[in-house]
Amino acid sequence: MQRWLTGRQTPKSLDKDAFAALPRHVAIIMDGNGRWAKAHRLNVAMGHRQGTETLREIIRHTDDLGIGALTIYAFSTENWRRSAEEVAALMQLILDFFASEIDELDEKGVRILILGEKDALPPKQRDVLTEAETRTASNTGLRLNIALNYGGRAELTRAARRLAEKVQAGELSLEDITEDALGGELYTAGQPDVDLLIRTSGEMRLSNFLPWQCAYAEFVFPEALWPDFTVADYDEALQVFASRNRRFGGRP
Ligand code: FPP
Repeated sequence: MQRWLTGRQTPKSLDKDAFAALPRHVAIIMDGNGRWAKAHRLNVAMGHRQGTETLREIIRHTDDLGIGALTIYAFSTENWRRSAEEVAALMQLILDFFASEIDELDEKGVRILILGEKDALPPKQRDVLTEAETRTASNTGLRLNIALNYGGRAELTRAARRLAEKVQAGELSLEDITEDALGGELYTAGQPDVDLLIRTSGEMRLSNFLPWQCAYAEFVFPEALWPDFTVADYDEALQVFASRNRRFGGRP
């Protein structure tokens, strides 16, 4: 079955100007799976499972539009505090997702990168993720970044430490510690900053997600819970993004 559409398409719901002003990098906080499950009298694992269906559609649409990079928040360093059952369900979903999607993603030229501490994940998940990264490393299509066991402060701390190590080793001098140098030590090194951050479910927080990369991002907060979030909702967020006047601290 051809699940991944080919070519770049202008969706009917997105006008020409919005299509011309697409973000280069979209980041999404997929919030609301738990509330969706509760509203449907299901356990939370079913909410995450339904959320994975939404994720498939959104990745496909991002690729169809020709957006360069998509970063999704799949599991934060704080998510370990959830019940053992919920953590296990999320870990299983990771395996299921890659088992069912990796062939199509690779065929479409999607390049997968995991942002976060892979080493602290269970060995099976770690291996599957590493394999997906290796297999797609030379692809040149959509950059799909999956934040897993990720925390923004941890990422910045890691980058600072890596720079300090280079100074200590005499490879860098203090003058070499620039914004570019720090950005170059982040998981997202070489990728554009986030242009558009979407958080579903009406919550308006960053929750330690890409604090550096979102410095000048436009934020859109759709009301829909993540499992209910549709491609039309996504297009609406893109339309809102296109209508924003971005000044990057300057004057229009
Ligand atoms: C937040 O909703 C969502 C998460 C913590 C996990 C999101 C993960 C997926 C959608 C699927 C797994 C990803 C991959 C790559 C297979 P919440 O549970 O905090 O919602 P609530 O605020 O309504 O409780």
